[in-house]
Amino acid sequence: MPSKHFYITTPIYYVNDIPHIGHSYTTIAADVISRYKRMCGYDVFFCTGTDEHGQKIQRSALEKGMTAIELADKTVENFKSLWKVLNISNDDFIRTTEQRHEITVKQIFERLMSQGDIYKGTYEGWYCVPCETYVPESSMGDGKTCPDCGRPLEKMTEESYFLRISKYEKDLLDYYEHNLKSIMPRTRYNEIVSFIRGGLRDQSISRTSIKWGIPVPGDEEHVIYVWFDALINYLTVCGYPDGDFMNRYWPEARHFVGKDIIRFHCVVWPIMLIALGINPPVTVFAHGWWTFEGEKMSKSKGNVVDPFEMADLYGVDAFRYFLLREVPFGLDGDFSEMAMVQRINSDLANDLGNLLNRTLQMIKGYRENVVPSATTLEDLDLEIKTTMELTLKEVETNMDSFAFDEVLKTIWSLISRGNKYIDQTMPWKLGREGNLERLDTVLAVLYEILSVSCLLIAPFMPETAEKMWIQLGQEGKPLEQNLAEYKWGSQMKNATVNKGNILFPRIDMDKWKKEKEERDMSKGIITDPGDHEEEVEIDYFKNLEMRVAQIVSIEGIPKANKLYKIGIDLGYEKRTIVSGLKENFSEEELLGKKIIVVCNLKPAKLRGVLSNGMLLAASPKGKEELALLTPDRDIPLGSRVS
Ligand code: MSP
Repeated sequence: MPSKHFYITTPIYYVNDIPHIGHSYTTIAADVISRYKRMCGYDVFFCTGTDEHGQKIQRSALEKGMTAIELADKTVENFKSLWKVLNISNDDFIRTTEQRHEITVKQIFERLMSQGDIYKGTYEGWYCVPCETYVPESSMGDGKTCPDCGRPLEKMTEESYFLRISKYEKDLLDYYEHNLKSIMPRTRYNEIVSFIRGGLRDQSISRTSIKWGIPVPGDEEHVIYVWFDALINYLTVCGYPDGDFMNRYWPEARHFVGKDIIRFHCVVWPIMLIALGINPPVTVFAHGWWTFEGEKMSKSKGNVVDPFEMADLYGVDAFRYFLLREVPFGLDGDFSEMAMVQRINSDLANDLGNLLNRTLQMIKGYRENVVPSATTLEDLDLEIKTTMELTLKEVETNMDSFAFDEVLKTIWSLISRGNKYIDQTMPWKLGREGNLERLDTVLAVLYEILSVSCLLIAPFMPETAEKMWIQLGQEGKPLEQNLAEYKWGSQMKNATVNKGNILFPRIDMDKWKKEKEERDMSKGIITDPGDHEEEVEIDYFKNLEMRVAQIVSIEGIPKANKLYKIGIDLGYEKRTIVSGLKENFSEEELLGKKIIVVCNLKPAKLRGVLSNGMLLAASPKGKEELALLTPDRDIPLGSRVS
């Protein structure tokens, strides 16, 4: 067994929701690092799972007319099948409703209780049910809402067990001062350290108001708070308190989490561990959040990216590649299908696809598929060799800091270098001139670039790498190769290539646009409503004086095809406005209509007529249609819109 160990986890996902792009993102990233480390000879333990207790699940089950466990049993299958589709190579999958977990949680609770790190008290506070967390008054949003999700908070008072967080404040700060990489990226490290410096309060870790959870040992009125329960999953899978896995993997534990859940992972969790006499994880890496085409994803907007659909439409590997290439792992990013299609066409079909096709075509044409050996390496070849060696090193460094986008950029610059090398060496010319020795070297160098690229992309795109490996005429699987032992020239011995199907066919943009529009329409999504403005404060809106008015007169304006001069009655005064309705409405249609007018716009002259206000109308993007905004019932003229 290898002597180097590597333990990586994803958060365990709530089972009240269908899996979406956020879940896929962390899990794919954890899969990539696991596969890479395995290729580097590490003994890897990669775990994911589901978080199945708590109020959120209980409520969601109730709404669906199910019991909590029925809901969990159903949803967990969605996660498991998504991980299969996305080619996730996890070694364990934990459900917090499993017995092994319940035993571990109770054991830890009892131990912390017996050593005085858990005590009983009362808790009163504002609670956010969807986020399963109390919100301090100082961070509540307007109207007592949750600062994270914006939903209304509920006042709760309950007897509760508390974890003595405050006692360990100093230990935690000491730990972070000596372990600068224990929270990544650096901005998150700073954020957490300053949060701790602001002072820590004991954390309530039990609830009497709900039933769906692990009961507090010896006090069954209480169930253990879902976060206390959930965090322990990372130890359960290691067989805590003892056992081989604790020794092998725990010292090498790394957690990937979204930026929204780092306080639990970087404050509560390490304190639980310190109290248990266990070292905190080596690293908690907080990645950013995806928005969808500029907007926060939400079920109500219908803009949640469905990973099953993406994998089905574009292929699993393209989806995996895009997520990790498009945005640096620690930053927020925007998901757009258009951007994904562009990447598929440029990086995958063009850069990678071309290098493979051109090279294999030449080996086939000039050498009947047998890979030649290099003879004398010229300066240009030596430069490529050095680039390749540097690439391997850079990939290693960037992988170790989880800079997946940088890793991919580095691999792609080698691939681009390969394409450029073909243009520089012009193998077809060498063939024509009969310079076969040089031609052999050039083909061998190109083959070498492809072999290394194939190995390096294997953790990101396992299926593609496998197909490439077969086309390159290699035995076994790329993921079974040892990257640490890779040496220039080691792959090419007598290989016979098999030029095969195109890895990534180019996507025709016009066809794609049409198909996307149809897809969106069938889902009831209006394609690209466009024109999103910046968010504004409510006062900005309040400054607009909009009132109900009635159209009392109407006439055309000479030489203005689109404009009407409209007399309106606001109840308290009459005014004239000019509006571009002529192409859409007849005078008869408009006369007498009640409309909404912005009254405090600066007057403006249009075709010589002073317009004192603006009426409101809506039109779909890019279309000529127009609809007037009118009050839906009789209401006095001059009534204000708010
Ligand atoms: N159950 C807790 C985690 C407990 S771990 C001991 C939980 N579950 S979750 O299902 O709500 O979220 C899981 C992860 O998905 C979080 O890391 C969160 O950051 C991530 N994401 C949810 N939406 C996301 C995006 N739109 N983009 C990226 N990640 C996002 O929290």
